[in-house]
Amino acid sequence: MLNKVEEIKEALKSATANSQDELEQFRMQYISKKSVVNDLFGKFKDVPNDQKKEFGAKLNELKQEVQEKFKELIAHLESSSSTGGSSSEIDMTLPAGGQSIGSIHPLTATRNRIVEIFERIGFNVSEGPEIEDDFHNFTALNFPENHPAREMQDTFFIEKNPDIALRTHTSSVQVRVMESQEPPMRTLSPGRVFRNEAISARAHCIFHQVEGLYVDENVSFADLKQTLFHFAKEMFGKDTKIRFRPSYFPFTEPSAEIDISCNICKGKGCNICKYSGWVEIGGSGMVDTNVLENCGIDSEKYTGFAFGMGIERIAMLKYQINDLRLFTENDIRFLKQFSRL
Ligand code: PHE
Repeated sequence: MLNKVEEIKEALKSATANSQDELEQFRMQYISKKSVVNDLFGKFKDVPNDQKKEFGAKLNELKQEVQEKFKELIAHLESSSSTGGSSSEIDMTLPAGGQSIGSIHPLTATRNRIVEIFERIGFNVSEGPEIEDDFHNFTALNFPENHPAREMQDTFFIEKNPDIALRTHTSSVQVRVMESQEPPMRTLSPGRVFRNEAISARAHCIFHQVEGLYVDENVSFADLKQTLFHFAKEMFGKDTKIRFRPSYFPFTEPSAEIDISCNICKGKGCNICKYSGWVEIGGSGMVDTNVLENCGIDSEKYTGFAFGMGIERIAMLKYQINDLRLFTENDIRFLKQFSRL
């Protein structure tokens, strides 16, 4: 009989329960009325009297061990089910999923490329405030007071102060450069600009420009043409052609609109170039003598050229994007296409 008790004790040590069914089996085997332990209790009366004391003590000890083991098994089962199953189901050797990281926005990439092209031919980069005063955005640039030319640019004024506005172009930065530096100067001003326009596939009230300025002795229109021709070839490919159309800006005289040969249909005609083979990329001209004088530069001695382009427009032509709104919608499917830039 005592041997039987020892046997059960031994078996208890290795008993496990990895499911409710196995736990129930344990209960049936060791705790229920039909269990081996209960069986032994039933046999107590057959034990010789002189052994009853020892056997009784052993039996009670066994009963207690069974109870403790049962509690232990319940606790183990609960903790393993709360972590989603037994630990053997987690495969520690699986490779970790990759981290997704952001990428350069196509407008930033385009701006960087434009800056790079001009930096190589001696231009530096200048920046200025987005909230401007009337002098730097208009007056210094030869916009007469109350002249309709000011309306060309649909300005956002700061309420209660008609002297302060969101800059409508980065020409304002060039005024600041001319005021504070001596020629020769070759500078590029990229930045955000604001115009009160309805948002559509082709226009936005916030967009980006890059304007260039070159002031020195003997700067001519031929320099302007050659500089922009060089830019067009670097940006859009060596077969790109360029043409100038006469235009009007208050701050340049003569003024010209810049077109490049359509890089989408290669001049054959498509809906981007409206079947003309040419697309407009910006404005340009020789800096008006009034502007030079307004900024304290001797217009007898110095001449200069200036140009301005929309960064969105350049990016749209370069990457064949047909809706300007895509740049600001932050749609990851759109942005991902430029992750290698
Ligand atoms: N500032 C002009 C604009 O925003 C562009 C331009 C710049 C035109 C320089 C001519 C010379 O429309």
